[in-house]
Amino acid sequence: MKIAVPLETQPGENRVALIPESCAKLIKAGLEVVVQSGAGVASAHDDESYRSAGATVESDARKLFSEADIVVKATKPGQNDAAGGNEADLLKEGAVLVTFLDPLIDFDLVRKLAERKITAVSMELVPRITRAQSMDALSSMANIAGYKAVLIAADTLPRMCPMMMTAAGTIAPARFFVIGAGVAGLQAIATAKRLGAIVSGYDVRPAVKEQVESLGAKFVEMDLDTKAAEDKGGYAKEMGEDFIRKQREMMARVVAENDAVITTAAIPGKKSPVLITADMVRGMKPGSVIIDLAAERGGNCELTKCDETVVENGVTIIGPSNLPSTIAVHASQMYARNIQTLLNHFVKDGAWKVDMSDEITSGCVVTHGGEVTHARVRDLMGLPALNPPAKEPEPAAASGAAEGGNG
Ligand code: NAI
Repeated sequence: MKIAVPLETQPGENRVALIPESCAKLIKAGLEVVVQSGAGVASAHDDESYRSAGATVESDARKLFSEADIVVKATKPGQNDAAGGNEADLLKEGAVLVTFLDPLIDFDLVRKLAERKITAVSMELVPRITRAQSMDALSSMANIAGYKAVLIAADTLPRMCPMMMTAAGTIAPARFFVIGAGVAGLQAIATAKRLGAIVSGYDVRPAVKEQVESLGAKFVEMDLDTKAAEDKGGYAKEMGEDFIRKQREMMARVVAENDAVITTAAIPGKKSPVLITADMVRGMKPGSVIIDLAAERGGNCELTKCDETVVENGVTIIGPSNLPSTIAVHASQMYARNIQTLLNHFVKDGAWKVDMSDEITSGCVVTHGGEVTHARVRDLMGLPALNPPAKEPEPAAASGAAEGGNG
């Protein structure tokens, strides 16, 4: 089977879906890998390094898309001027596409991929279960985003993070508050601790209190009924506006006491809850910083503008949408590992197998054989359930959230 690795065309995207090391492993497993010329340059892998790994380098983007059995990407298909069309149209009918697809929102793309009989695998839908941990690109990328968010906050703050006793007086440590202690949040907590800040964290899922504390941060307790906050997959459920309003009232004081607030509160497939209102921002000290990781889904702060910096009353609010791309070497390394493991899961005896009775497969295959096959995506698109319905993933074991986070 021929795997193609295109050059990403989305503005600002520096990642590549496979690095030379992962190409070599796939080639060793009997697959053929074709990489578009220049695909790895932004993540520090030149064409020669791919050739040395055994891959073929192709400069014709259109040929690359149209001849591949499997196309692996870091972003969803879009207009590709070098290839002369939309990538979803350029794929060979019946080919496999593995990438972040945004399938809980972008139904037009899902429909198009089904019509073109593409087997579309959504990296964001890989279930967060123990068996799929090494394929979980959402966690890999969130880890990077949590780390980088803290670096941006530290760089933007007009103060230092650690406590310092100097001849010119004692410098008090900066105070960081992390809202949402999932993968990104836990990594943000760990990174801020390493910088010497005083860190506290909060999440609607009470189960994460222990993880926050194990990283040396304080868990902020709020008198809210959080019994219904977690679904059976371990994800946060959408809470009503009344709950969010109470949460905001209780959090206003904590937000005002901190120098940096990192927000990561997400509900899969939904708009992010607004947890910091404009009034709460105005209650913060001038010089404070908010890094809103949920910017792409509307943001956790009312004033966030995606990919912009807003200054309100001396408070800087930054809403970056693609932080993993800013750390392209490691983001590509981790993503390539996730893709490689996922390909190993699907390719058996040199052929791509789709076994919907497997929970990883039913969890992340969105379209196959001309149908939208994913139960949740079908439901959101208003399509009737398939018979038999695709199997729901089992509840998550401990997520890879704190991975590498307690250093
Ligand atoms: P996650 O699902 O592991 O964590 C989100 C956490 O938010 C969960 O622990 C959840 O319980 C919590 N949460 C939900 N509602 C809440 C509320 N009302 N109050 C407090 N906590 C609440 O998600 P992950 O993977 O950590 O991603 C976090 C966010 O970062 C997402 O919005 C994701 O899209 C974003 N992200 C952003 C990137 C960027 O470059 N800007 C890159 C990667 C992820």
